[in-house]
Amino acid sequence: MFGRLMPETASLQAVLTDRIFLGLTIASVLILGLVIGLLLVFSIRFRRGSTVNRHPLPEIVSREFEIGWTVATIFLFVFIFWWAASAEIGAYSVPPNAIEIHVVAKQWMWKTQASNGAREINELHVPVNRPVKLIMTSQDVIHSFFVPAFRLKRDVLPDQQTETWFQATKTGTFHLLCTEYCGTDHARMLGRVIVMEPEAYARWLSAQPEGDDLAHQGERLFSERGCAGCHAPGSAVHAPSLAGIWERPVPLEGGRFATADAGYIRDSILQPSRDVVAGYAPVMPSYAGLLDDGEIQAITAYLRALGSEPAVVRELGTP
Ligand code: CUA
Repeated sequence: MFGRLMPETASLQAVLTDRIFLGLTIASVLILGLVIGLLLVFSIRFRRGSTVNRHPLPEIVSREFEIGWTVATIFLFVFIFWWAASAEIGAYSVPPNAIEIHVVAKQWMWKTQASNGAREINELHVPVNRPVKLIMTSQDVIHSFFVPAFRLKRDVLPDQQTETWFQATKTGTFHLLCTEYCGTDHARMLGRVIVMEPEAYARWLSAQPEGDDLAHQGERLFSERGCAGCHAPGSAVHAPSLAGIWERPVPLEGGRFATADAGYIRDSILQPSRDVVAGYAPVMPSYAGLLDDGEIQAITAYLRALGSEPAVVRELGTP
């Protein structure tokens, strides 16, 4: 019945979001109806000149009314809060089997890259019925990634990484919009999400030009841009080894700890003097302006591929 009132529904999240939206709408209409109904009844019943009893209700009855609607309203609000909050929390809990797509927004296009290195501009191919994690950052100003059919909207920020996920439930082509005003061509910052059957997706992916996967690009950048000069084991410069640090605690000056996740690695590349690793001199220069967001993502993917076991310096690609 409501299907045609809403935009197309093509993801798990869309069904959930619509249910909350319709639930809130129906509750609001019922409450509005009740208020207007009572208003009409009372204004007719107690109109000027009518002879009804105008004495107040006995105190015991009016107290019960008072308690009744206070408690009912509290329950209603707690329920609504729990309902919406659990859906919002779900948007942040990415299933572990999600495929990962890196997204870089810039004025005025969407650049996407699958983990095998396949790159696209203003297009994103994904398989149906499979969770897809988006790891997003912006090269310039704030943009916002919006796929109406998936009810998916998340800001894409410069110098910061945002993540979200979706699971498409229908094959087809869906609009991808930028929904944060980002300059002259904001309105033309359009793309398409193409949801395919798993076999068709696998075929599409293997037909893409041999992209270096992200981790290998990162490995190359790591040596070409001079990271390896200091961070490689056995370097003359006393810099922390990065092998095996992924998602491990890093002791900082001042007794604090950071977790070596994507955000920390990004901060360390762009603002290395802000959080110096305990026991090391603050000698690393900032790479702001020297590495773009795609390159930082690639280096992050490389460090991640090196894993979380500090004792073992693993070669990329070996299990
Ligand atoms: Cu990008 Cu608006």
